[in-house]
Amino acid sequence: MKQAIGGKKKIAAIKGTKDILPPETRKWQWVENQARELFERYGYRELRAPVFEATELFERGTGTSSDIVLKEMYTFTDKGGRSLTLRPEYTPSVVRAIIEHRLYLQPRPLRFYYIGPMFRYDKPQKGRYRQFHQIDIEVFGEKDAGIDAEIIQMAQALLTKVGVTDYRILINSVGCPRCRPPYVEKLRQAAEQVREALCPDCQRRIELNPLRLFDCKVETCRELAQEFPRITDYLCSECTEHFQQVQAYLDVFGLEYQLEPRLVRGLDYYTKTTFEFVTSALGAQDAILGGGRYDEMMKLFGGPDLCGIGFAVGLERLLSLVTYQPSEAPFIFVAYLGEPAKQAAMKLVATLREVGMECWLEYKERSLRNQLSRANKLGATWTLIIGEDEVKSGRFNLKNMASGEQQEYTSAELLAYFRDYLHSKKSPS
Ligand code: HAM
Repeated sequence: MKQAIGGKKKIAAIKGTKDILPPETRKWQWVENQARELFERYGYRELRAPVFEATELFERGTGTSSDIVLKEMYTFTDKGGRSLTLRPEYTPSVVRAIIEHRLYLQPRPLRFYYIGPMFRYDKPQKGRYRQFHQIDIEVFGEKDAGIDAEIIQMAQALLTKVGVTDYRILINSVGCPRCRPPYVEKLRQAAEQVREALCPDCQRRIELNPLRLFDCKVETCRELAQEFPRITDYLCSECTEHFQQVQAYLDVFGLEYQLEPRLVRGLDYYTKTTFEFVTSALGAQDAILGGGRYDEMMKLFGGPDLCGIGFAVGLERLLSLVTYQPSEAPFIFVAYLGEPAKQAAMKLVATLREVGMECWLEYKERSLRNQLSRANKLGATWTLIIGEDEVKSGRFNLKNMASGEQQEYTSAELLAYFRDYLHSKKSPS
């Protein structure tokens, strides 16, 4: 809602973007930390790429027949006349960075993760934003089906770690450049037979990329697509064997999954395994995460013949399923009376913060009563009162707000007390 404040037009956040405010940010930080901690355990390291890239990177990487490239990119010309695009996804950026920094010379497989914003100009709705955030992981240089199963297991471990249980795992194989073209031709022929009954978008898809026919949300198209040939009936022996091995390894991990032969995913680069985790708790935007193998992308950019696989979690969608409410850290509210006490309080707070304690000190002079009622309202764990007498004696009164217990300490004793407190919180009891 745009309202005039002081006669000036209010500037609102752009449609499809949103501010993430405290205390909600705590939940974001918690989930992000859970992901970082988990990925590092599997040997992943963070790789940070720029938010904008050459437009061509996504045209070639994500693919010119994907909806993302066709309709959803934030593309602009910069002052130097270059066509740039705010990244709609992360995978092509990682591939570019690997080639640019010759990371493929490092011991393989290479494992990277990243958490950050992506941009897609799609119609905003619940669970779909124009700036959204992904947790992305990518692995390079591992052909074995074991890694396909491992990353799916890692995705599941992440959901378990953040307390999300309502989802199904869908998997498919979309074949390779050898077996997919004959299948796509069969699919094209089948769609051609029912062309008139398909929506205008699907009619275009017949020519442009028949695999996209499975992404259509129009009910009649979905029903017709049920009867189209399935890619898994056309896989070559190598792809069939790989897909069977992925399933066998998923069984090793004891994962439950469903085969979904229509899971082609909206990006052009996938080969062999594709997968999604979907939930019934999110309405139309039901994919919490999606990913797959892309063994041709590195070559496409002139890099070595290095296969890749990965997935991305939609953070907004994941967070809407996370019920955990992280608690606020304990903190000390320092109340003072008079200028000398204020200066003593400022010094003391600086050292307590250095030790690792969260401290609050307000600079506007208020009565002691007023400050203590503020401390109460803010939910302080302790209050520390500094008046003229305390400055003179060098002894300060610390009150535990929950128990009401009070005790006097010198500043050295206070520091020791809170050092011990922080230490006891860190060490397992
Ligand atoms: P994607 O399926 O396009 O895959 O996106 C992954 C996830 O990002 C989706 O499952 C969804 O949770 C979230 N997402 C996508 N678009 C939006 C949006 N407009 N608003 C909110 N959330 C959204 C990829 O991006 C691939 N790069 C994944 C991958 C990595 N494949 C291999 N490596």
